[in-house]
Amino acid sequence: MASLISNLSSAISRLTLLRKPSLHFSVKTLRKLEADRKWCGPISPFLHASTNYDFAHFSSCPQAKTMNALGQDEELVVLGIETSCDDTAAAVVRSNGEILSQVVSSQEDLLVRYGGVAPKMAEEAHSLVIDQVVQEALDKAKVTEEDLSAVAVTIGPGLSLCLRVGVRKARKVAGTYALPIVGVHHMEAHALVARLVERELQFPFIALLISGGHNLLILARDLGHYIQLGTTIDDAIGEAYDKTAKWLGLDMRKSGGPAVEELAREGDENSVKFKVPMKQHKDCNFSYAGLKTQVRLAIESKNIDASIPIASASSEDRRARADIAASFQRVAVLHLEEKCERAIEWAMKMEPSIKHLVVSGGVASNQYVRSRLNKIVEKQALQLVCPPPSLCTDNGVMIAWTGIEHFQMGRYDPPPPACEPEDAMLDLRPRWPLGEEYAEGRSEARSLKTARVHPSLTSLIQASTQTTP
Ligand code: KG4
Ligand code: ZN
Repeated sequence: MASLISNLSSAISRLTLLRKPSLHFSVKTLRKLEADRKWCGPISPFLHASTNYDFAHFSSCPQAKTMNALGQDEELVVLGIETSCDDTAAAVVRSNGEILSQVVSSQEDLLVRYGGVAPKMAEEAHSLVIDQVVQEALDKAKVTEEDLSAVAVTIGPGLSLCLRVGVRKARKVAGTYALPIVGVHHMEAHALVARLVERELQFPFIALLISGGHNLLILARDLGHYIQLGTTIDDAIGEAYDKTAKWLGLDMRKSGGPAVEELAREGDENSVKFKVPMKQHKDCNFSYAGLKTQVRLAIESKNIDASIPIASASSEDRRARADIAASFQRVAVLHLEEKCERAIEWAMKMEPSIKHLVVSGGVASNQYVRSRLNKIVEKQALQLVCPPPSLCTDNGVMIAWTGIEHFQMGRYDPPPPACEPEDAMLDLRPRWPLGEEYAEGRSEARSLKTARVHPSLTSLIQASTQTTP
């Protein structure tokens, strides 16, 4: 069963951030308005028929703005819940950037057993620990639900079965305590958490988001306004790290990436000649499926037996595995470097004032990745912003923080009903693009995986802004 791992450092870590003063809105006012039924129309993303995209997901509600303007100088305290993949996470964050608590329960035993995320098992594991994780986050923050201003929760992209667990819990807390709720885009949260740790980070900026399921290069023009410069046409880099770790017989308990990174330090990165993917495509898209195949073939050709754990391998065998790990990592990251260089070029043409490249998502905790990308940004006189590893991998802080950013813009939903039926239809967005594709950078190389299900977050927000007088 999943075990609870609280934040590595102290339960209450304090990262203070001096943001420009914002007009906080009084939750008491909000609750009163809710009681008076003065909400501004159909803004819940959760219960609406998900086919009607004319309604924006987020409310850009005029009343909300009025409430902001009328609000007292009240600091927001937001609970963030994340269950989109294999980590059950919750955190409590203040609008001044103070992290009051962070709790993550990882499904490491399931990862070892299945060599990846099995949705049904992952759902069960989330369901088993969600109440405990949220309670622990509140306890460590020394707050109760009564002290919260809102609840933020990941509604996509991710595995539906898993998203559902978090959204149900969030709606239960929000419904019971009459709290507004913010539905958060998981990848936007990976990018925006950088603004919590780096107070100089203003829009516009470029972000490279690298995780187990996503490889995204975006131009973040403003909050909720993103242009997708590139994405993966098949696998993400984290998936390639995880499979490489599995085939090399590495210890998967902390997921594959850290194990490959560690072993690669012993190897010769030039010993195996892997081909850099997509050299011929002059775009910003990624592909890791071919590199995975190259790694598998190299492992087979060296007769490496993954059933012998690395700890029991002979020194010669260990050396061969380390060489493959190092050579894989060099080429996997070179692919990132090449696409980032092009993305910087494209983005600077659109927004010459850009000063930062954000690198976030689980793979951004890798030191080799950070140091190589740092060289790229230095060449361009930009600054690299990488959140600390505990905020790069999936966590509740990034969800709470993104909730705060949108909430302050008046984008939230009213409290759900106190007693919502178990079978209420939830608006979950397993495939949900962050922004529109950069028209000039369109590639012919694409696969069915990129087919969209929901309109992008950016288009929904733009539509809501246009319909708001
Ligand atoms: O963002 P994340 O925690 O979850 C997803 O949204 O997918 O990313 C998880 C991915 C996994 O593939 C994991 O192997 C990878 O991030 N990862 C790393 C490292 N730490 C985590 N990859 C390479 N090096 C690392 N140090
Ligand atoms: Zn993630």
